[in-house]
Amino acid sequence: MNILIMGPPGAGKGTQAELIAAAYGIPHISTGDMFREAVAKGTELGKKAQEYMNAGMLVPDEVTIGLIAERLTRSDCERGFLMDGFPRNIKQAEALNNILSDLHKELDFVINIYVPNEILVDRMTGRLTCPECKTVYHRTFQPPRQEGICDKCGASLQQRSDDTAVETVRNRLEVYEKETNPLLDYYQKRNLLVNIDGQQSREQVFASIKAHLGRA
Ligand code: AP5
Ligand code: MG
Repeated sequence: MNILIMGPPGAGKGTQAELIAAAYGIPHISTGDMFREAVAKGTELGKKAQEYMNAGMLVPDEVTIGLIAERLTRSDCERGFLMDGFPRNIKQAEALNNILSDLHKELDFVINIYVPNEILVDRMTGRLTCPECKTVYHRTFQPPRQEGICDKCGASLQQRSDDTAVETVRNRLEVYEKETNPLLDYYQKRNLLVNIDGQQSREQVFASIKAHLGRA
């Protein structure tokens, strides 16, 4: 199954992507995680991406599109993939069409998780992330069993640098509205869009998604 997961910053894309990828045995491809890993390693890509991410802006399309074009050719995508955070504008969506058509693949579903803005801000500012296995927590809504420690791999949890400044959080929401939200119409017209209420609990959101995807 070839799936995109969309929604504003903090909607729960990464949280659900982890559950879907495990349940359906497909890789979770997150452009945000790829950029954060590059920043942590101090690579050329990381140096390019960091200033855009910290400002809440999109990393330039040519960088992001190239990254995804390469990632989708890897053998773990043969049974499908779950893409989180790409595409984020029409240019990226059209590039994805071309990449997939070259690989003789098609999208099966575009999941859109919708959540009101006032809730998104709380979700982002309370989020904690594992830098090793990428598991996502929340201080209040999804706390780890032991404070500051990942349940799965024992690493120390971190706060993302783009979650700390109110200005950056606000910018990310604005960029989403302007650049990414129009893609919902784009995929609706292709009959691929599945809308999911992201204000339900993590488990209820996952159950709603599974009801649409069915058995793999
Ligand atoms: P990216 O990493 O993709 O971030 P984002 O889109 O801003 O989304 P988030 O990761 O913040 O939120 P999420 O929806 O994954 O929510 P989560 O599951 O963590 O991108 C970061 C940056 O990278 C961009 O700003 C840009 O600079 C760059 N970038 C990435 N892709 C790009 C592209 N294609 N082009 C250009 N630039 C790109 O959940 C959030 C919190 O809520 C967590 O604490 C979680 O525990 C909690 N939570 C989740 N579900 C629930 C629930 N049901 N109830 C209560 N709490 C919940
Ligand atoms: Mg995420």
